[in-house]
Amino acid sequence: MEPGLRTPGWPAADGARASHYNSRMTTPTFPRHDPAEAEFWNLRFEAAFTPWDQGGVPQSLRDWALQYVGHGAPRVLIPGCGSAHEAQFLAGLGWQVLAIDFSPSAVARARKVLGPLAAAVQEADFFVMNETPFDLVYERAFLCALPRRLWPQWAARIAALIKPGGRLMGFFFTDAGEKGPPFGLHEGELDALMGTHFTLEEKRQPIDSIPVFAGKESWQVWRRKPGNPQ
Ligand SMILES: C[S@@+](CC[C@H](N)C(=O)[O-])C[C@H]1O[C@@H](n2cnc3c(N)ncnc32)[C@H](O)[C@@H]1O
Repeated sequence: MEPGLRTPGWPAADGARASHYNSRMTTPTFPRHDPAEAEFWNLRFEAAFTPWDQGGVPQSLRDWALQYVGHGAPRVLIPGCGSAHEAQFLAGLGWQVLAIDFSPSAVARARKVLGPLAAAVQEADFFVMNETPFDLVYERAFLCALPRRLWPQWAARIAALIKPGGRLMGFFFTDAGEKGPPFGLHEGELDALMGTHFTLEEKRQPIDSIPVFAGKESWQVWRRKPGNPQ
């Protein structure tokens, strides 16, 4: 690892643009790690440098989830949960929530945020966790945190972790550039990843994007088709 290199990616990690994003957030430099490694994320949580963190529950998730109140208690997975603000909201609806993250520092942060609901958070790697399929998976800033080479594996895991008829709902970041994280989806890329096992049900612009995602993310709901992935 080369120490002290400035990390490409999140605008706030770029000194030239940091004040544009959040003038209160200083711009640390981090030892170079692959974002596929937990250590990449540990360092950022330990430095309280989390420019992707909305610090609350996005309105699109609130609106969508509230439609389902009174229709049972779905099991929902939040992969790469970070601070996991949404877990509290979803558990408050009576849903069965499992929030996972492979960064011990993220898990510690989430447990602090969740207080009495801390048991909803587990330290686990999305790619090797062993769980029966969920009714719902909530996506926010997880796919765009993964290097592109992992996206086909992400899509296969998502299909395996959602029951036929279940849904993947959340936020998807689009950007024509190559650098990251956040790594942006290019035109048609999500359709190619999802199309075999999912049908797009809903797509719209969020009203409360934080600056790092503003104008480049959409709220989407994908429904799992019948049949098991091979
Ligand atoms: C950009 S952060 C987003 C956190 C949160 N979803 C949010 O919106 O604030 C990406 C998170 O994914 C986690 N992560 C990355 N790869 C992972 C993996 N293979 N398994 C579990 N968590 C992972 C990181 O540790 C980090 O907390």
